[in-house]
Amino acid sequence: MSSLAWCSYKRITVEPLAKALGARVLGVDLSQIIEQEVLDEIRMAWQKYLVLVFPEQDITDGQQVRFSRQFGELEIYPLGDNRSQHNPEIFRVSNCDAAGQLLPADDPESLWNNLTEYWHTDSSYRTVPAQGAVLHGREVPPHGGDTLFVNLVEAFDGLPEKRQKSLENLVVVHDWQYGTEYADHLMKAMKSEEIESVPPVRHPLIRTDRSTGKRALFVSPAYASGIDGIVVKEARDLIAELCEWAIQPQFIYRHSWSRHDVVMWYNPLTMHAREAFDYGRERRIMHRTTIVGT
Ligand code: OGA
Ligand code: MN
Repeated sequence: MSSLAWCSYKRITVEPLAKALGARVLGVDLSQIIEQEVLDEIRMAWQKYLVLVFPEQDITDGQQVRFSRQFGELEIYPLGDNRSQHNPEIFRVSNCDAAGQLLPADDPESLWNNLTEYWHTDSSYRTVPAQGAVLHGREVPPHGGDTLFVNLVEAFDGLPEKRQKSLENLVVVHDWQYGTEYADHLMKAMKSEEIESVPPVRHPLIRTDRSTGKRALFVSPAYASGIDGIVVKEARDLIAELCEWAIQPQFIYRHSWSRHDVVMWYNPLTMHAREAFDYGRERRIMHRTTIVGT
């Protein structure tokens, strides 16, 4: 990363964290109303580095919603139990209940939370996948629970040209309910209207992001149930193979959480997965807001 990257921002400090993606942003207080010029710089850094880390941001849910809304409308998570009662835009990603009580390790809600251990792009099961997400680490475990992010543009660019061409016209089915097959031991009972609210959708395997014009290897294996015109097993093998390719160390940024880190990712060009932690004993409470895609 050239040292010029450090100089192109006037109002914030942006420090690259890894070769492929990720940068730390200093000089901004997310609890306050942020001036347009600063927001513009954050947006620029967000689209360039794909994962931004704002350390030491002890913000309320309301402040998180206000900050996130400045980048677009917010999604409402399909499952009612995971939404905060006071702020429906807040999706609780947690092994504790809404009152903050640690859930037993075999509690369906706690197991469900472990779905984030599978590689995925948020909301790839929507017609337009989310533009981004903002995740506030309210309580983080002392060991484990890192979140790994992949730069899917570099993963695509890194493929041999011939391979890129062979993948160009493939269309992938992304299906929320596919999780019941993919991770059946983690699935919790869902209401039929919750399932019906997110029917299967299709996205090109090589997907162009409208806002940046960049092309990404859009795999999201946790939701990718098949590929049009290819028998199911072969399609899933291909998705698994491309996922293996994408998660090579040179395409990754690993985030080890400190309490009150706020991490914001540019969703259509990345995927992520959380690492294991002692979920029956250690508390991990993350609050997410999700910016609607364009
Ligand atoms: C998410 C997610 C990972 C984590 O919030 O979308 O996948 O580390 N979270 O909690
Ligand atoms: Mn996620």
